[in-house]
Amino acid sequence: MSPHASAAAAAVGVINQAVAVRGSCSLALSGGSTPVPFHRLLATEFAEQVPWGNVHVFWGDERYVPHSDARSNYGMARRTLLDHVPCPSENIHPMPTSGPSSSDAALEYEHTLRKHFSGGVPRFDLMVLGIGIDGHTASLFPHSPALREKSRWVLAVTAEADVRQRLTLTLPVITRAVHTFVIVTGAEKAAAVELARSARTDPADCPAAALQKSEGEVAWWLDAAAAGH
Ligand code: 6PG
Repeated sequence: MSPHASAAAAAVGVINQAVAVRGSCSLALSGGSTPVPFHRLLATEFAEQVPWGNVHVFWGDERYVPHSDARSNYGMARRTLLDHVPCPSENIHPMPTSGPSSSDAALEYEHTLRKHFSGGVPRFDLMVLGIGIDGHTASLFPHSPALREKSRWVLAVTAEADVRQRLTLTLPVITRAVHTFVIVTGAEKAAAVELARSARTDPADCPAAALQKSEGEVAWWLDAAAAGH
C-alpha cells in the first residue's frame, strides 16, 4: 500500500474518532505536491467513510498568492479534494491571501482560529504536513525567526522558496495537534527525513525535527525511497 493510501486509511480513523468524541474534527492540510494523491484518495475511495459535515478544514501554511493562483495551497486542496466531497463551505477556513498585508492576514487567521477553538491555543485533531529537502515543514524554514515564536499562532514569513511571501502556523500550534501525519515520498527527501527524526538534530537546522516535541502522536508515512531503503 502506498504511503498515501496508508495515510488516508489512518486519517479516516482519526477523523471518525474525533467526531465520535468531540462532535467534529479539525483538520489542517498541507500544501505542495505530495498531498495530492492523499487528497484524491479521500475524495474517492475513502470519501464515503468520512463524515464531511463534521469536518472543519484549515491550512498549516499558505503561499501569499490569490487562491486562483496555481501555487495556492487552498486552490490545490479545492481541485484535489474539497470540490469533490460534501464538506460545507462554512467548514472550510482558508488562510486569507487577498489583502495588501500578509501580516494583517496572519492576525486575521489567528482570529479565525480563536473563534473556532474558543480562545485556547488551537489543538488540531489532525495536522497533515510535508517536509522540504531542506527540512522545512509548513512554511517554517531553517534558521527562520518564526521557529522561536512562542505566543503567536500564525505568522507572515518570507521564505527562500518559489513563493517568498507566506503564512504559516507556528510551532506552539503545530506541536499541539492530537495527531500529526507527515507524508513524504522520494529519495531526495530521505536525508531530511532522517535528520528530522534524529534526537541529535537542532530544529533550527531542520524545522521538521521540532515535531519530536509534539504533544500528540506523530506518524511518518514514507515510501521506501524517502525512508532511505
Ligand atoms: C508548501 C508546503 C510545504 C511542503 C513542502 C514539501 O506550502 O509548500 O506546505 O511545507 O509540505 O515544501 O513540498 P512538496 O510536497 O511539493 O515536495
